[in-house]
Amino acid sequence: MNNDSAAIRTYDLTKRFKKLTAVDQVNFEVKPGEVFGFLGPNGAGKTTTIAMLLGLVRPTAGSAEVLGHDIRRDLSVALRRVGAIVETPAFYPYMSGMDNLRILARIDGGDTEEHIPSVLEQVGLKGRGKDKVGTYSRGMRQRLGLAAALLGDPELLILDEPTNGLDPAGMREMRVFIRRLADEEGKTVFLSSHLLHEIEQVCDRVLILNKGQVIAQGEVNELLSQAQAVELRIEAVEKAIEVLSRLDWVRGTSHEGDWLHIQSSPERAPELLAALAAHSLFPFEVRPVVSTLESVFLDLTDESPEATDA
Ligand SMILES: Nc1ncnc2c1ncn2[C@@H]1O[C@H](COP(=O)(O)OP(=O)(O)OP(=O)(O)O)[C@@H](O)[C@H]1O
Ligand SMILES: [Mg+2]
Repeated sequence: MNNDSAAIRTYDLTKRFKKLTAVDQVNFEVKPGEVFGFLGPNGAGKTTTIAMLLGLVRPTAGSAEVLGHDIRRDLSVALRRVGAIVETPAFYPYMSGMDNLRILARIDGGDTEEHIPSVLEQVGLKGRGKDKVGTYSRGMRQRLGLAAALLGDPELLILDEPTNGLDPAGMREMRVFIRRLADEEGKTVFLSSHLLHEIEQVCDRVLILNKGQVIAQGEVNELLSQAQAVELRIEAVEKAIEVLSRLDWVRGTSHEGDWLHIQSSPERAPELLAALAAHSLFPFEVRPVVSTLESVFLDLTDESPEATDA
Protein backbone atom coordinates (compact mmCIF):
# COMPACT_ATOMS: atom_id res chain seq x y z
CA MET A 1 0.00 0.00 0.00
CA ASN A 2 2.54 2.55 1.16
CA ASN A 3 6.21 2.34 0.43
CA ASP A 4 7.37 4.63 3.23
CA SER A 5 9.02 3.27 6.29
CA ALA A 6 6.54 3.18 9.20
CA ALA A 7 7.18 0.14 11.39
CA ILE A 8 3.45 -0.23 12.03
CA ARG A 9 0.58 1.67 10.51
CA THR A 10 -3.12 1.02 10.99
CA TYR A 11 -6.04 2.18 8.88
CA ASP A 12 -9.33 2.34 10.79
CA LEU A 13 -8.43 -1.00 12.33
CA THR A 14 -11.58 -2.52 13.84
CA LYS A 15 -12.52 -5.72 15.65
CA ARG A 16 -16.03 -6.61 16.71
CA PHE A 17 -16.92 -9.59 18.86
CA LYS A 18 -20.67 -9.96 18.29
CA LYS A 19 -22.10 -6.71 19.62
CA LEU A 20 -18.94 -5.53 21.33
CA THR A 21 -16.59 -3.33 19.34
CA ALA A 22 -13.30 -4.17 21.06
CA VAL A 23 -11.19 -2.08 18.65
CA ASP A 24 -12.97 0.78 16.95
CA GLN A 25 -11.41 2.43 13.85
CA VAL A 26 -8.00 2.79 15.40
CA ASN A 27 -5.36 4.77 13.50
CA PHE A 28 -1.75 5.14 14.48
CA GLU A 29 1.74 5.00 13.11
CA VAL A 30 4.87 3.71 14.82
CA LYS A 31 8.10 5.19 13.48
CA PRO A 32 11.25 3.12 13.11
CA GLY A 33 13.52 3.29 16.16
CA GLU A 34 10.99 4.72 18.57
CA VAL A 35 9.47 3.24 21.71
CA PHE A 36 5.74 3.60 21.25
CA GLY A 37 3.41 3.15 24.22
CA PHE A 38 -0.06 1.69 23.82
CA LEU A 39 -1.81 2.74 26.97
CA GLY A 40 -5.25 1.82 28.17
CA PRO A 41 -7.19 0.41 31.11
CA ASN A 42 -8.25 -3.24 31.35
CA GLY A 43 -10.49 -4.17 28.47
CA ALA A 44 -9.49 -1.17 26.33
CA GLY A 45 -8.62 -3.38 23.38
CA LYS A 46 -4.82 -3.47 23.65
CA THR A 47 -4.35 -7.23 23.38
CA THR A 48 -6.96 -7.48 20.63
CA THR A 49 -5.09 -4.85 18.59
CA ILE A 50 -1.77 -6.60 19.15
CA ALA A 51 -3.32 -9.95 18.25
CA MET A 52 -4.47 -8.46 14.93
CA LEU A 53 -0.99 -7.05 14.24
CA LEU A 54 0.43 -10.52 14.78
CA GLY A 55 -2.17 -12.31 12.67
CA LEU A 56 -3.72 -14.11 15.65
CA VAL A 57 -7.09 -12.38 15.26
CA ARG A 58 -8.72 -11.26 12.00
CA PRO A 59 -9.81 -7.63 11.76
CA THR A 60 -13.53 -7.09 11.17
CA ALA A 61 -12.77 -3.95 9.17
CA GLY A 62 -9.89 -1.68 8.36
CA SER A 63 -6.33 -2.85 7.92
CA ALA A 64 -2.77 -2.49 9.09
CA GLU A 65 0.77 -2.85 7.88
CA VAL A 66 3.62 -4.31 9.87
CA LEU A 67 7.06 -3.47 8.46
CA GLY A 68 5.33 -2.51 5.24
CA HIS A 69 3.38 -5.76 4.88
CA ASP A 70 -0.39 -5.92 4.88
CA ILE A 71 -1.49 -8.02 7.87
CA ARG A 72 -4.11 -9.86 5.81
CA ARG A 73 -1.93 -10.64 2.82
CA ASP A 74 1.72 -11.23 3.55
CA LEU A 75 2.13 -10.93 7.28
CA SER A 76 4.27 -14.04 7.62
CA VAL A 77 7.09 -12.31 5.71
CA ALA A 78 7.01 -9.44 8.20
CA LEU A 79 6.74 -11.66 11.25
CA ARG A 80 10.22 -13.08 10.65
CA ARG A 81 11.51 -9.64 11.61
CA VAL A 82 9.20 -9.25 14.62
CA GLY A 83 9.57 -10.50 18.19
CA ALA A 84 6.48 -10.54 20.38
CA ILE A 85 5.06 -11.25 23.80
CA VAL A 86 1.28 -11.54 23.98
CA GLU A 87 -0.31 -11.74 27.42
CA THR A 88 1.63 -14.06 29.73
CA PRO A 89 3.87 -16.26 27.60
CA ALA A 90 3.37 -20.00 28.01
CA PHE A 91 6.27 -22.43 28.36
CA TYR A 92 6.70 -26.12 29.12
CA PRO A 93 7.09 -26.19 32.92
CA TYR A 94 8.97 -29.51 33.05
CA MET A 95 11.66 -28.29 30.71
CA SER A 96 14.41 -25.80 31.39
CA GLY A 97 14.26 -22.23 30.15
CA MET A 98 17.04 -23.03 27.76
CA ASP A 99 15.28 -26.09 26.31
CA ASN A 100 12.09 -24.10 25.90
CA LEU A 101 14.05 -21.55 23.86
CA ARG A 102 15.64 -24.37 21.85
CA ILE A 103 12.21 -25.64 20.84
CA LEU A 104 11.19 -22.16 19.76
CA ALA A 105 14.43 -21.71 17.83
CA ARG A 106 13.85 -25.00 16.01
CA ILE A 107 10.30 -23.99 15.10
CA ASP A 108 11.86 -20.92 13.54
CA GLY A 109 14.24 -23.06 11.52
CA GLY A 110 17.05 -23.44 14.04
CA ASP A 111 19.17 -20.50 12.88
CA THR A 112 18.62 -18.66 16.11
CA GLU A 113 19.68 -21.45 18.50
CA GLU A 114 23.14 -19.95 18.85
CA HIS A 115 21.59 -16.75 20.27
CA ILE A 116 20.14 -18.56 23.31
CA PRO A 117 23.00 -17.93 25.76
CA SER A 118 23.21 -14.25 24.85
CA VAL A 119 19.46 -13.58 25.08
CA LEU A 120 19.33 -15.37 28.44
CA GLU A 121 22.11 -13.14 29.64
CA GLN A 122 20.42 -10.03 28.24
CA VAL A 123 17.25 -10.69 30.24
CA GLY A 124 19.14 -11.60 33.41
CA LEU A 125 18.42 -15.34 33.38
CA LYS A 126 21.93 -16.53 32.68
CA GLY A 127 22.27 -18.40 35.96
CA ARG A 128 18.82 -20.02 35.74
CA GLY A 129 18.69 -21.16 32.12
CA LYS A 130 19.14 -24.82 33.07
CA ASP A 131 16.42 -24.80 35.73
CA LYS A 132 12.92 -26.02 34.94
CA VAL A 133 10.50 -23.25 34.00
CA GLY A 134 8.10 -24.66 36.61
CA THR A 135 10.51 -23.43 39.29
CA TYR A 136 10.60 -19.88 37.86
CA SER A 137 8.82 -16.97 39.47
CA ARG A 138 6.26 -15.05 37.40
CA GLY A 139 8.82 -12.33 36.74
CA MET A 140 11.35 -14.88 35.53
CA ARG A 141 8.79 -16.35 33.15
CA GLN A 142 8.14 -12.86 31.86
CA ARG A 143 11.86 -12.43 31.22
CA LEU A 144 12.00 -15.76 29.46
CA GLY A 145 9.16 -14.48 27.27
CA LEU A 146 11.28 -11.50 26.38
CA ALA A 147 14.26 -13.76 25.70
CA ALA A 148 12.05 -15.74 23.31
CA ALA A 149 10.94 -12.52 21.60
CA LEU A 150 14.58 -11.50 21.13
CA LEU A 151 15.77 -14.83 19.73
CA GLY A 152 15.61 -13.95 16.05
CA ASP A 153 17.24 -10.52 16.60
CA PRO A 154 14.01 -8.84 15.42
CA GLU A 155 13.93 -5.23 14.27
CA LEU A 156 10.46 -4.71 15.76
CA LEU A 157 9.34 -5.87 19.20
CA ILE A 158 5.64 -6.01 20.00
CA LEU A 159 5.27 -6.46 23.74
CA ASP A 160 1.91 -6.82 25.47
CA GLU A 161 2.34 -5.61 29.07
CA PRO A 162 5.97 -6.75 29.33
CA THR A 163 6.32 -5.74 32.98
CA ASN A 164 3.27 -7.70 34.09
CA GLY A 165 4.22 -9.71 37.16
CA LEU A 166 7.55 -8.01 37.75
CA ASP A 167 8.49 -6.40 41.04
CA PRO A 168 9.50 -2.71 41.09
CA ALA A 169 13.18 -3.50 40.57
CA GLY A 170 12.34 -5.91 37.76
CA MET A 171 10.07 -3.31 36.16
CA ARG A 172 12.82 -0.75 36.23
CA GLU A 173 15.30 -3.19 34.74
CA MET A 174 12.85 -4.01 31.99
CA ARG A 175 12.36 -0.31 31.23
CA VAL A 176 16.09 0.30 31.04
CA PHE A 177 16.45 -2.75 28.86
CA ILE A 178 13.70 -1.67 26.46
CA ARG A 179 15.17 1.82 26.21
CA ARG A 180 18.56 0.32 25.43
CA LEU A 181 17.13 -1.91 22.71
CA ALA A 182 15.89 1.24 21.00
CA ASP A 183 18.79 3.59 21.72
CA GLU A 184 21.71 1.26 21.23
CA GLU A 185 20.41 -1.43 18.92
CA GLY A 186 18.05 0.70 16.88
CA LYS A 187 15.09 -1.57 17.48
CA THR A 188 11.53 -0.34 17.28
CA VAL A 189 9.44 -1.21 20.31
CA PHE A 190 5.66 -1.19 20.50
CA LEU A 191 4.55 -1.90 24.05
CA SER A 192 1.22 -1.94 25.79
CA SER A 193 0.67 -1.04 29.39
CA HIS A 194 -1.98 0.20 31.75
CA LEU A 195 0.65 2.02 33.82
CA LEU A 196 1.24 5.60 32.84
CA HIS A 197 4.42 6.05 34.81
CA GLU A 198 5.90 3.11 32.97
CA ILE A 199 5.01 4.62 29.60
CA GLU A 200 6.25 7.97 30.83
CA GLN A 201 9.67 6.61 31.63
CA VAL A 202 10.30 4.51 28.59
CA CYS A 203 8.26 5.76 25.64
CA ASP A 204 8.80 8.51 23.13
CA ARG A 205 5.19 8.67 22.06
CA VAL A 206 1.99 7.25 23.43
CA LEU A 207 -1.51 6.41 22.28
CA ILE A 208 -4.29 6.21 24.83
CA LEU A 209 -7.01 3.72 24.06
CA ASN A 210 -10.30 3.52 25.89
CA LYS A 211 -13.22 1.24 25.07
CA GLY A 212 -11.60 0.46 21.75
CA GLN A 213 -11.21 4.08 20.71
CA VAL A 214 -8.18 6.33 20.50
CA ILE A 215 -8.73 9.18 22.92
CA ALA A 216 -5.31 10.79 22.59
CA GLN A 217 -1.94 10.29 21.01
CA GLY A 218 1.22 12.28 20.96
CA GLU A 219 4.50 12.92 22.69
CA VAL A 220 4.52 11.66 26.26
CA ASN A 221 5.65 14.99 27.73
CA GLU A 222 2.86 16.85 26.02
CA LEU A 223 0.18 14.54 27.35
CA LEU A 224 1.55 14.63 30.86
CA SER A 225 1.58 18.39 31.03
CA GLN A 226 -2.08 18.36 30.04
CA ALA A 227 -2.88 16.31 33.11
CA GLN A 228 -1.12 18.45 35.66
CA ALA A 229 -3.35 19.83 38.36
CA VAL A 230 -3.52 21.34 41.80
CA GLU A 231 -5.97 20.28 44.45
CA LEU A 232 -7.01 22.25 47.46
CA ARG A 233 -9.37 21.81 50.34
CA ILE A 234 -11.37 24.92 50.93
CA GLU A 235 -14.61 25.90 52.62
CA ALA A 236 -16.29 28.17 50.05
CA VAL A 237 -15.83 25.85 47.08
CA GLU A 238 -18.36 27.53 44.78
CA LYS A 239 -16.90 30.96 45.39
CA ALA A 240 -13.36 29.64 44.83
CA ILE A 241 -14.42 28.10 41.51
CA GLU A 242 -15.88 31.42 40.46
CA VAL A 243 -12.64 33.24 41.25
CA LEU A 244 -10.36 30.67 39.63
CA SER A 245 -12.47 30.35 36.51
CA ARG A 246 -11.55 33.92 35.65
CA LEU A 247 -7.87 33.00 35.34
CA ASP A 248 -7.31 32.22 31.67
CA TRP A 249 -4.53 29.69 32.35
CA VAL A 250 -6.83 27.53 34.49
CA ARG A 251 -8.07 24.87 32.06
CA GLY A 252 -10.97 23.69 34.19
CA THR A 253 -12.19 23.05 37.70
CA SER A 254 -14.24 20.42 39.43
CA HIS A 255 -14.84 19.45 43.00
CA GLU A 256 -15.66 16.55 45.22
CA GLY A 257 -16.95 17.73 48.58
CA ASP A 258 -14.60 20.45 49.79
CA TRP A 259 -11.70 19.27 47.62
CA LEU A 260 -11.30 21.48 44.60
CA HIS A 261 -9.49 20.09 41.54
CA ILE A 262 -7.88 22.73 39.35
CA GLN A 263 -6.47 21.85 35.93
CA SER A 264 -3.36 23.94 35.98
CA SER A 265 0.36 23.49 36.37
CA PRO A 266 1.42 23.02 40.02
CA GLU A 267 4.06 25.65 39.24
CA ARG A 268 1.28 28.21 39.36
CA ALA A 269 0.04 27.23 42.83
CA PRO A 270 1.34 30.50 44.36
CA GLU A 271 -0.68 32.50 41.84
CA LEU A 272 -3.77 30.40 42.54
CA LEU A 273 -3.39 31.04 46.24
CA ALA A 274 -2.85 34.77 45.71
CA ALA A 275 -6.01 34.99 43.57
CA LEU A 276 -8.00 33.23 46.29
CA ALA A 277 -6.48 35.31 49.08
CA ALA A 278 -7.51 38.48 47.25
CA HIS A 279 -11.08 37.32 47.89
CA SER A 280 -10.36 36.27 51.47
CA LEU A 281 -10.42 32.61 50.48
CA PHE A 282 -7.81 30.56 52.33
CA PRO A 283 -7.43 26.83 51.68
CA PHE A 284 -6.74 24.37 54.51
CA GLU A 285 -4.58 22.16 52.32
CA VAL A 286 -2.92 22.39 48.92
CA ARG A 287 -1.40 19.52 46.97
CA PRO A 288 -0.02 19.04 43.47
CA VAL A 289 -1.61 16.25 41.46
CA VAL A 290 0.93 13.83 40.14
CA SER A 291 0.08 12.94 36.56
CA THR A 292 -1.18 9.40 36.37
CA LEU A 293 -3.03 7.42 33.78
CA GLU A 294 -6.10 8.19 35.78
CA SER A 295 -5.65 11.94 35.74
CA VAL A 296 -4.76 12.07 32.04
CA PHE A 297 -7.63 9.80 31.32
CA LEU A 298 -10.17 11.71 33.41
CA ASP A 299 -8.93 14.95 31.97
CA LEU A 300 -9.33 13.74 28.42
CA THR A 301 -12.66 12.03 28.82
CA ASP A 302 -14.04 14.63 31.19
CA GLU A 303 -15.54 11.85 33.24
CA SER A 304 -14.60 13.37 36.57
CA PRO A 305 -17.56 13.86 38.91
CA GLU A 306 -19.23 17.25 39.04
CA ALA A 307 -17.06 18.66 36.27
CA THR A 308 -17.67 22.33 35.71
CA ASP A 309 -16.44 24.39 32.82
CA ALA A 310 -13.98 27.17 33.39
N1 LIG B 1 -12.24 -13.69 21.90
C1 LIG B 1 -13.04 -12.76 22.41
N2 LIG B 1 -14.37 -12.90 22.38
C2 LIG B 1 -15.21 -11.96 22.86
N3 LIG B 1 -14.78 -10.80 23.43
C3 LIG B 1 -13.47 -10.60 23.51
C4 LIG B 1 -12.52 -11.56 23.00
N4 LIG B 1 -11.26 -11.07 23.21
C5 LIG B 1 -11.43 -9.88 23.81
N5 LIG B 1 -12.73 -9.59 23.99
C6 LIG B 1 -13.28 -8.37 24.59
O1 LIG B 1 -12.71 -7.25 23.94
C7 LIG B 1 -12.45 -6.20 24.85
C8 LIG B 1 -10.99 -5.82 24.77
O2 LIG B 1 -10.20 -6.87 25.31
P1 LIG B 1 -8.62 -6.84 25.32
O3 LIG B 1 -8.15 -8.13 25.87
O4 LIG B 1 -8.16 -6.46 23.95
O5 LIG B 1 -8.33 -5.65 26.33
P2 LIG B 1 -6.93 -5.20 26.96
O6 LIG B 1 -6.83 -3.73 26.71
O7 LIG B 1 -5.84 -6.05 26.49
O8 LIG B 1 -7.20 -5.42 28.53
P3 LIG B 1 -6.19 -5.89 29.72
O9 LIG B 1 -5.50 -4.66 30.19
O10 LIG B 1 -7.13 -6.41 30.75
O11 LIG B 1 -5.26 -6.93 29.16
C9 LIG B 1 -12.88 -6.70 26.22
O12 LIG B 1 -14.16 -6.22 26.48
C10 LIG B 1 -12.89 -8.22 26.04
O13 LIG B 1 -13.84 -8.82 26.89
MG1 LIG C 1 -4.50 -7.28 27.44
